[in-house]
Amino acid sequence: MADGLPTEIDLSRPSAARVYDYFLGGAHNFEIDRQLAGQIASMTPNLAATMRAGREFLRRAVRALLDAGIDQFLDIGSGIPTVGNVHEVAQAANPKARVVYVDIDPVAVAHSRELLAGDDLTGVIHADLRQPEAILAACRAMGLLDLDRPVGLLLAGVVHFVKDADRPAELLATLRAAAAPGSFLVVSHSTFEDQPQEMLDAQRLSARTATEITLRSRAEITGFFGDWTILEPGVVHMPLWRPDSPSDVDEHPERFGAFGGVARYDQPAG
Ligand SMILES: C[S@@+](CC[C@H](N)C(=O)[O-])C[C@H]1O[C@@H](n2cnc3c(N)ncnc32)[C@H](O)[C@@H]1O
Repeated sequence: MADGLPTEIDLSRPSAARVYDYFLGGAHNFEIDRQLAGQIASMTPNLAATMRAGREFLRRAVRALLDAGIDQFLDIGSGIPTVGNVHEVAQAANPKARVVYVDIDPVAVAHSRELLAGDDLTGVIHADLRQPEAILAACRAMGLLDLDRPVGLLLAGVVHFVKDADRPAELLATLRAAAAPGSFLVVSHSTFEDQPQEMLDAQRLSARTATEITLRSRAEITGFFGDWTILEPGVVHMPLWRPDSPSDVDEHPERFGAFGGVARYDQPAG
């Protein structure tokens, strides 16, 4: 419990990270997770595709940041490093790219540490997005990223696990304030906008995991970028964010249930 978070694994409740891992085809999940995944999938056959669309959005965003010269990433709510992790995408483009993964889930953290053992350019922190100062302090103490230089802050599929009472906009503001000019922020977040009833029902099922999802509007999600410059094409349904090919875009991109966007911290004038 060096980081103050519980390290024991609660097998009586499904975990969001392990349910997500199951949908992505990973092996780091238990029966209780698979049961919930099955239930969610029967209500929303589209959900596995939604989760893959989330991972695809993250990959495209990371590539865009690499193209912009970013060579260090702080990935909060990184999940279980299943298929195509951020460090793999980043290091394929820049072998010297550094990535620090942060997750609240002890299983995700344990698997990340196991997978990344011996990789000097990656690190793993067990921490809670609701304590951004602790994340930043642990990141600085680790010494892998230099927060005085531009960094890619990745918050993919995680802010919707923060309830309104925990003031997500303030948490994001704390993280943005710690970043140097030239940094980027990537956010993807589940929404109720344009969603059929089945998605809203699935969201209620998420209440059974240790981390319930709060669906938010496009305006609220846009607010998480603060005064940073939102890049084209804006905060959009995830498949619409710079698709590799127009044929990758589903006829109904809203069916993936989440908005994604990327913003840059431009050097303040004066
Ligand atoms: C849906 S997964 C997203 C994984 C990855 N970012 C992606 O987009 O492929 C969400 C992750 O956020 C983690 N998470 C949920 N609440 C969190 C919190 N308060 N602090 C840190 N991580 C959290 C979960 O444990 C889970 O691993």
